[in-house]
Amino acid sequence: MSLFSIDQKKCKRDGICAAECPAQVIVQPDKNSYPSPIEHAEEFCINCGHCVAVCPHGALVLEKMSFTECPEIQKELLPSSAAARELLLARRSIRQYQKKIVPQKVLDDLLDVARYAPTGSNKQQVHWTVFREPDDVHQLAVQVIDFMKIMLPVTTDEATVRRFRRIVDAWDRGKDRIMRGAPHLIVVSSPSDLSFPGADCAIALSYVELYAFAKGLGTCWAGYFTAAASLHEPLIKVLNLPPGHQCFGAVMLGYPQYRYHRIPRRNDPLITWR
Ligand SMILES: Cc1cc2nc3c(=O)[nH]c(=O)nc-3n(C[C@H](O)[C@H](O)[C@H](O)COP(=O)(O)O)c2cc1C
Repeated sequence: MSLFSIDQKKCKRDGICAAECPAQVIVQPDKNSYPSPIEHAEEFCINCGHCVAVCPHGALVLEKMSFTECPEIQKELLPSSAAARELLLARRSIRQYQKKIVPQKVLDDLLDVARYAPTGSNKQQVHWTVFREPDDVHQLAVQVIDFMKIMLPVTTDEATVRRFRRIVDAWDRGKDRIMRGAPHLIVVSSPSDLSFPGADCAIALSYVELYAFAKGLGTCWAGYFTAAASLHEPLIKVLNLPPGHQCFGAVMLGYPQYRYHRIPRRNDPLITWR
């Protein structure tokens, strides 16, 4: 079975698919021949679908990716660069949440969009563990606080001790600085033996954060939770990630209590121009 088929009535033999193929499994020796797969193409193809997506004529169909699974880009829906810039600058980490639950279809939509985040070699092994119940999210915070209480007497770094102490003291006064009272937590994991599992997960979470903001939701990275998720046995047990997976991040999610009205200043970029 061939990796792809070419509709010879549509193909203009422009060579774009062969040029764009990241794995170079498509060849077109000259302008008179049609594109064809190299020998053992299946072994090297990363199933990215770029050949289908880049063809201006809809002439190439992959065996494993039907044409209907590759909808045409609705160009009129793309944001202007100014709109995209404002979105990126205006997103904030949210630490005060309404007690409102995010509907399942909104959660579905967020994670559906995150499928389109880039992954190393298009592996797409990012896995989500979603805590939908606010009580469960609170229990996770309890576990992180337990972890901090265990770590405090054995931690030698002074700054970490002071930071943990403040968080634990706040917790004892009824203030949750771990989950911030967020109703939901989205945990991302990946097999740790991939080439770039941390990058895959972080980028996918960034997709979730930015799209969530565009939909009027708020998010915040749960850094303390993420650290504890790889070290604290009781938490590892509760998380119950797929075998071989490591947690590479998590974001709190909910409807923000407050709106932001300004973009805070950030440092100049650190750049070495060469
Ligand atoms: C890897 C990572 C871990 C973070 N962990 C936490 C956290 O545990 N608690 C928290 O309140 N914010 C956390 N944050 C949010 C940062 O404090 C926040 O991004 C930063 O202050 C900038 O604010 P902004 O996101 O609104 O631009 C984390 C952010 C990142 C990227």
